[in-house]
Amino acid sequence: MEVLLPLVLACSLLLTSAAPARDITSICASQISDFPQLNSSGLHLTLHHPQSPCSPAPLPTDLPFSTVLTHDDARVAHLAARLATTSNTPPRRPTSLRKKKASTAVDDSLATVPLSPGTSIGVGNYVTQLGLGTPATSYAMVVDTGSSLTWLQCSPCVVSCHRQAGPLYDPRASSTYAAVPCSASQCDELQDATLNPSACSVSNVCVYQASYGDSSFSVGYLSKDTVSFGSGRFPNFYYGCGQDNEGLFGRSAGLIGLARNKLSLLYQLAPSLGYSFSYCLPTSTSTGYLSIGSYNPGQYSYTPMVSSSLDGTLYFVSLSGMSVAGRPLAVSPSEYSSLPTIIDSGTVITRLPTSVYSALSKAVAAAMGGAKRAPAYSILDTCFEGQASQLHVPAVTMAFAGGAALKLATRNVLIDVDDSTTCLAFAPTDSTAIIGNTQQQTFSVVYDVGQSRIGFAAGGCS
Ligand SMILES: *[C@@H]1O[C@H](CO)[C@@H](O)[C@H](O)[C@H]1NC(C)=O
Repeated sequence: MEVLLPLVLACSLLLTSAAPARDITSICASQISDFPQLNSSGLHLTLHHPQSPCSPAPLPTDLPFSTVLTHDDARVAHLAARLATTSNTPPRRPTSLRKKKASTAVDDSLATVPLSPGTSIGVGNYVTQLGLGTPATSYAMVVDTGSSLTWLQCSPCVVSCHRQAGPLYDPRASSTYAAVPCSASQCDELQDATLNPSACSVSNVCVYQASYGDSSFSVGYLSKDTVSFGSGRFPNFYYGCGQDNEGLFGRSAGLIGLARNKLSLLYQLAPSLGYSFSYCLPTSTSTGYLSIGSYNPGQYSYTPMVSSSLDGTLYFVSLSGMSVAGRPLAVSPSEYSSLPTIIDSGTVITRLPTSVYSALSKAVAAAMGGAKRAPAYSILDTCFEGQASQLHVPAVTMAFAGGAALKLATRNVLIDVDDSTTCLAFAPTDSTAIIGNTQQQTFSVVYDVGQSRIGFAAGGCS
């Protein structure tokens, strides 16, 4: 990376804007004091809601919920587009690091360090901490079951880094860092992991391109270093050292990929920990967990992990029915499986086939007692005056093939969009159905790749 040195000074001047010190309340301190832990049952990390004040990289508290929904729709469109394309198309903005590297003058674009808050993968994603390098430094990372490659913003940020909480990862400060050459097998695996071809730099380093939508992406050097979680250290972890990172990821440093691919964090740690992970996605006022390794199998109800030729890396399930206040929706059972269905940690609002959504909307509205209807809000069209906690909300159950069920609590059914309006937290789609994170909140969800099943258990976190 020596050819990049002329840019280092300019970049460091522009990018050392550390996040302002944040008051960690004693509540947050007590919630995170026991983590991370590596014990005989695996690796246990704390997971934070993207807007939790305890998150190491919380989204701005004044972020309008309509903005969250706009990003959510972009994420869904991106996932749907992935499943719709049979041949992989390169990202809309393939960034040539090679070109930037050859230039010795400080590029003008570096003087206007971004940040166009473009389409984002980060807005709905939960946050945890990952240690990298020797000595290890901790980074706030979003966790994503919808992508595979782990990457983080990486000094000297040849093209662009956004402002992140805490210092940037600096490969030169790590004694265990190595750039991965183009000839490595991991470089070939990038195509499957990112759905974009890899490239090769003039100095023969493998270049990855991870894209998440129209304007959200990370491009940089495929690298390896020791990843650590508390006392657990795992050498030779492959990840992306991001030199051009665009899209609003809050203040997080990067992304942890948990999808089904050899380069994902799950697969890289699995030889030591086992091929499964579980999580509990908390609300914005509590904390949850992400565990990799063994889990308590008795507490879950299971549904088979469905394989799809559309995209081998995503987690497909088969929705088999829904009921409201104990009554099945008035749709033909075949409607539930009329679209491919994935379960996703980063999509906020569950998307259902239009016919199922319409029946759900009608049934919920009819069972809401005297709640007054409110106008539609963004993509949510079944809204009521008041806050979810003050209303009489019917029980909603989502059933899956094999007998697994999510018996949704009020907080999984309605979402407060402002101080006086709450909406059904589902939306219709005609492309890809997605089990989103509002519906998963507070359940333990296990992704057992080894046994090809997904399990749900109530009461995983508060
Ligand atoms: C491992 O640590 C987790 C998280 O603290 C804890 O819940 C679990 O019971 C521990 N397991 C064992 C076997 O010690």
